[in-house]
Amino acid sequence: MREILETLLKGEGYSVRLASSGEEGVELARNVPFDAAILDVMMPGMDGMQTLEALKKLDEELAVIMVTAYASVENAITAMKRGAFDYVTKPFKNDEVLVILRNALERRNLMNENRTLRQNLQERYNHFDNIVGRGAAMRRVFDLIIQAAPSRSTILIQGESGTGKELVARAIHTHSQRKDRAFVTVNSGNLPPDLLESTLFGHVKGAFTGAVYPKKGLFDLADKGSIFLDEIGNIPLETQAKLLRVMQEREFMRLGGMETIKVDVRIIAATNVDLRKMMEDGRFREDLFYRLHVINVQLPPLRDRRDDIPLLVQHFLEKYGEENRKTGLDLAPEALDLMMAYDWPGNVRELENVIERAVVLSSGNGIGPDLIPDHVGRPTVFQMPRFVLPPEGISFKDVITDFEKALIESTLEAAGGVQKRAAELLHIKPTTLNEMIKRYDIRPRRRRATDIAPEAAEPELARAAGDVG
Ligand SMILES: Nc1ncnc2c1ncn2[C@@H]1O[C@H](COP(=O)(O)OP(=O)(O)OP(=O)(O)O)[C@@H](O)[C@H]1O
Ligand SMILES: [Mg+2]
Repeated sequence: MREILETLLKGEGYSVRLASSGEEGVELARNVPFDAAILDVMMPGMDGMQTLEALKKLDEELAVIMVTAYASVENAITAMKRGAFDYVTKPFKNDEVLVILRNALERRNLMNENRTLRQNLQERYNHFDNIVGRGAAMRRVFDLIIQAAPSRSTILIQGESGTGKELVARAIHTHSQRKDRAFVTVNSGNLPPDLLESTLFGHVKGAFTGAVYPKKGLFDLADKGSIFLDEIGNIPLETQAKLLRVMQEREFMRLGGMETIKVDVRIIAATNVDLRKMMEDGRFREDLFYRLHVINVQLPPLRDRRDDIPLLVQHFLEKYGEENRKTGLDLAPEALDLMMAYDWPGNVRELENVIERAVVLSSGNGIGPDLIPDHVGRPTVFQMPRFVLPPEGISFKDVITDFEKALIESTLEAAGGVQKRAAELLHIKPTTLNEMIKRYDIRPRRRRATDIAPEAAEPELARAAGDVG
């Protein structure tokens, strides 16, 4: 078997050394640096498990692949828990060994690359990929991405809306060996529960009325890649149980189906709610909570890292400058002052939108405070509109409705589109606000500068009066 493997691997261009026992192998590894080792579990003298441990002591990142008889898969699993990379069962196909070896080496390279990256990052960079930031909290985030990316571990990203959760999820994927496979995003919040399940796991024909054809799910699509479960706090309890199963057993069943399907998917989850509190209230499964909490990336709100505001401004000036063919734009110091003083409830997304709008609207080569929306950074005084009545009078109900609508719109804008925050500002319950938003059909303003007419971009309460008069 040793010699067969030697021929196979040399044929692929690897340099190979053979050892006929565990002792001999460890001795070799003491003298020559290796990238990977292939070990039989059953060996006379030092057995596979002991050899594994000795090799790992020499080089913690050595990729060790165990060869095992079908009957002793249990052993192989134990070996993986002790740091083996993977295992093959005898008799094995050549391709099987080659694929595993390639993966193992790829991961090792990635770990090396990521380590170098991390050193560079600590020395000089203010960003990681396209994630801008440099304070201690963001460094911790970058470090975690680099360290955790090559593994298969589940990652939970927490942070307020607009803090960059999706950006981080993508960075984790691109720095893993899954980078050439799919990165599938699931917006758990947008789908009704039963649709969510069939979206995730697919369904068989006839699983429910309307299931005329069988359908694959997103977990099929994400096989060998990563799946990003956004707003995981919105996943209903029954679906949480199924998710747990995929995480633990790496298998699932289609809706209405009996067959178990194996997948190899890396799960990255994000939330902007307090999952621990949800768990305590019985709305989130405890076992899933702890499974998710293995690696936890906490994104700080922008107001807690104001030092990064100038960096981010520069980053977005370049981005939107290029997009709009207005390169070399500068931000006037007064405009930056406003931005430094502001709380950014919508975090980086809100800042990005403010800069995009300013770039689009700017005519010269500078951006002054006049291009920054009124609510940013300026202490505001609430003013009631002055009503001017037309001679024929006006419907009281219509005026009140218009007034409520305008007030809600302005507050949403000031809250960076975050409903919870807007409700706080108006001293009403989030549910009440949400009802009104629905009743008045207030669209979440996609606050992209291009969608906003200049005069509508700075809504003033006084406009309510304008409408009336
Ligand atoms: N550190 C950062 N550097 C550069 N851009 C950022 C950063 N953080 C966020 N952004 C940008 O802000 C926008 C919002 O980021 P993202 O979608 O990742 O936020 P999120 O946390 O997923 O928000 P939500 O909870 O609302 O979904 C994106 O356009 C993203 O590119
Ligand atoms: Mg998001």
